[in-house]
Amino acid sequence: MSVLFQKLLHTGKVNSFRKFLYPSLSHCKCLSERKFSDSHNKFVSFDEVAAQRRDEARRSLVIQVNSESSFNELYGYCSKYASINGIHHYKNSGGEHFMLVEFSTEQSMKDVLRNCSAHQKEHDVMALKSPFLWFRANSGKKAKLTIPTDVSLVIKDGNAITDEEKLNAELQACSNISDQMQLLYDRTTLNDIGVRLRYMVARQLEVVFESLYTNIEVRPFGSSVNGFGRMGCDLDLVLTNELTHQLSDPKKRLVYQEKKCSSGVRPWQRHLELVAELLELRVAGVSRVTRILHARVPIVKYAHELAGLDCDLCYGNLSGVYMSELLWALGTLDARARPLTQCVRRWAAAHALTSAHAGRWVTNFPLTLMVLFFLQQRGVLPSVKNLINRAGKEDIRIAEENVNCTFLRDMNKLPTECYGQNEANLETLLLQFFEFYSQFDFSEKAISVIEGKAIRKPNSQPLYIVNPLENMLNVSRNVSYEECERLKAEIRNAAWQLEAGSDDKKSDDWGLLSLIEKKSSRGLKRLLRVGNSHRLVAVKDLFNEDDDSDKEEGFRSKLERLTQKSDKVEESVKEMKEDLEKNSKEKKDKKINFKNSQVASEVFRIRRDKMV
Ligand code: CTP
Ligand code: MG
Repeated sequence: MSVLFQKLLHTGKVNSFRKFLYPSLSHCKCLSERKFSDSHNKFVSFDEVAAQRRDEARRSLVIQVNSESSFNELYGYCSKYASINGIHHYKNSGGEHFMLVEFSTEQSMKDVLRNCSAHQKEHDVMALKSPFLWFRANSGKKAKLTIPTDVSLVIKDGNAITDEEKLNAELQACSNISDQMQLLYDRTTLNDIGVRLRYMVARQLEVVFESLYTNIEVRPFGSSVNGFGRMGCDLDLVLTNELTHQLSDPKKRLVYQEKKCSSGVRPWQRHLELVAELLELRVAGVSRVTRILHARVPIVKYAHELAGLDCDLCYGNLSGVYMSELLWALGTLDARARPLTQCVRRWAAAHALTSAHAGRWVTNFPLTLMVLFFLQQRGVLPSVKNLINRAGKEDIRIAEENVNCTFLRDMNKLPTECYGQNEANLETLLLQFFEFYSQFDFSEKAISVIEGKAIRKPNSQPLYIVNPLENMLNVSRNVSYEECERLKAEIRNAAWQLEAGSDDKKSDDWGLLSLIEKKSSRGLKRLLRVGNSHRLVAVKDLFNEDDDSDKEEGFRSKLERLTQKSDKVEESVKEMKEDLEKNSKEKKDKKINFKNSQVASEVFRIRRDKMV
């Protein structure tokens, strides 16, 4: 039993520990009730969580409303026909309001749809049912609402991303780096409504495609569900239509006539083309559909405007789901794994080691494996080999291309001496992480979480991280020599910074802040400290993403003037300029988004008068 868990058991704090382990699930009534009452099972498996989330999604609807104050009317209207478990409010990136309503049963949800739903008659719309709806204003006389006094929104503005300045202020007020790391994790990890919404988007596709493909399942994977996601992370989806034994029973004699795909080796490439067309034409909320069909894993990328999400949809990639399961299992074993990973991911993003775009740099997934590998070195986590050796019959999973994804699923069966053998706090682990990789021989060694130790590199790829489920593959084969060198240099810098870090809690970038603040903000702060205090400007004003081009111009000229003032700030200015360029590029990307939400807002405006 882990030392931390033993302590909590003695102090009777197990329930709060569970909440701490699964913060994103703490709002989920059914899950938390089941977990809390089951004192034998310390760990909840990925399959249990996924089944619960899928079940919730089947019982839920997402309804666009006028504002959060539509709650009473919506609750009053729907509760006449069905019992409601909870209503969660959120806004999308266009500032439009939505309520995710969870009903007590799937039948209740269907009753509400049968009694209350309708299509809008419009000549250019071909009607289609889905779990995304909007709440029309009452055209008749307003009925008196009787809402029980104890019901209210489960959460208001639930998927708002924490304000950076507020977060920085909170981090500054912490008393040590471990607290900063925990706070950063608590404030930025993907929350309950974030997970619910992702399962709703998956459910919507199932509903739309159900009549086209038998036994269709659309399952989220990646950081949305593996426990390492942050608020606003992308949604990875996999579409499967595997036939169960029952559906393909050879004893049954009436066999469906079916359509053979004549395109040869990869029929699903053609089906994904169709899916992309359908997404564009038939699925409410979908925009910016991009087809990447000739990659090793063909995907369709799209934006879901109603849910405010960017999605990547692929077909049949079950190994991605099993990988998420593995990461979930390792993440649950020790409460320090996720906060440490979140800090490392955040540090990498702040130093532009990772990017929202794919390229020759490292991504969050291999970075996560680097953290897990480091934790294996410290006895905090077991090797994957250990989990493979302990697998039972119930753990056998074979993914596409016969990839064997068998490993122990139920972490309650893992002997306690296999993990948690180190009591170091988060701060110590963070420093040790950077020290460990400062000394790691990247030129000769590969990182293998399967073995739990470094192995000899089979080729000369600059960064070699063995795929935990396919040991012949390198998950970071895309990383260039230059990017690998940059990663190594930033790791050494971070180790040095943490070792040399001052204890001056009054400085505005003490502890974790110096590691995770964007270079641009750091450059500006340094600049303001070098005799320019009379020119103080709020960082927020300079980096406000909604700034118009006039402000950007103003910022440019401010920068020019400041440049002339002091030679010492030259380096900072260079960094800021680089970031400014990057900022403008990102803005350009966002403009596409704006164009779409403008269309959405237009539709919204037309409806608004009619919406409650
Ligand atoms: N994956 C994999 N092998 C790879 C890359 C990815 O199996 N070489 C799987 C992993 O399960 C990963 C998921 O695909 O979690 C999604 O990949 P990606 O979106 O790149 O990573 P995330 O973990 O989702 O992180 P992020 O928050 O950056 O999206
Ligand atoms: Mg992802």
